[in-house]
Amino acid sequence: MPRQALNYQIRLARAGDARPIAEMSRDCIEQGLGWRWTETRVLACIRHPAVNVAVAREGPALAGFGIMEYGDDEAHLLLFAVHPQRRRTGVGAALVRWLEATALTAGIGLIRLEARVNNPEARSFYRALGYRETRTIRGFYRGREDAVSIARDLWAG
Ligand SMILES: CC(C)(COP(=O)(O)OP(=O)(O)OC[C@H]1O[C@@H](n2cnc3c(N)ncnc32)[C@H](O)[C@@H]1OP(=O)(O)O)[C@@H](O)C(=O)NCCC(=O)NCCS
Repeated sequence: MPRQALNYQIRLARAGDARPIAEMSRDCIEQGLGWRWTETRVLACIRHPAVNVAVAREGPALAGFGIMEYGDDEAHLLLFAVHPQRRRTGVGAALVRWLEATALTAGIGLIRLEARVNNPEARSFYRALGYRETRTIRGFYRGREDAVSIARDLWAG
């Protein structure tokens, strides 16, 4: 059955978003690695001047989120997930495009991120959005799993 279109809003996260974001990270991203993106750490990101935490909210429910850190010349997408029941409805793409627009507004045209080598869904997702895989990083995930480094140059068109 096709997934229903969602009625969601994308905005910057507030303090009250930290807990559901941390829980989604634990359940959807950090499985098998130990929970490091705790509520306290997410809250620190929400308050950090060089980090944007974006949420897609469907009423009170968290449909997805992304955490992006800004450097001088590039932005690093640190953490990103969509709720399992909201996937393949365009929420992830909309969140990435929102974060890209924010980076461009800040004068940054290069976005980097890492994904588990063994995460074909995420790799397909970023490929569909115009991102390129640049290299493999051995043991990136706490020495236990390899990552693929992924990037998009927004100014390259
Ligand atoms: C990867 C993830 C963020 C995708 O979010 P999403 O909201 O389902 O993605 P979208 O609906 O916006 O998909 C956009 C396009 O990406 C591609 N895509 C997304 N999920 C895919 C999958 N499971 N398999 C293959 N392609 C996929 C498709 O081309 C899709 O377009 P389509 O649905 O019209 O075919 C989501 O699966 C997720 O949260 N996974 C667990 C956490 C994770 O891996 N985070 C990223 C780590 S860096």
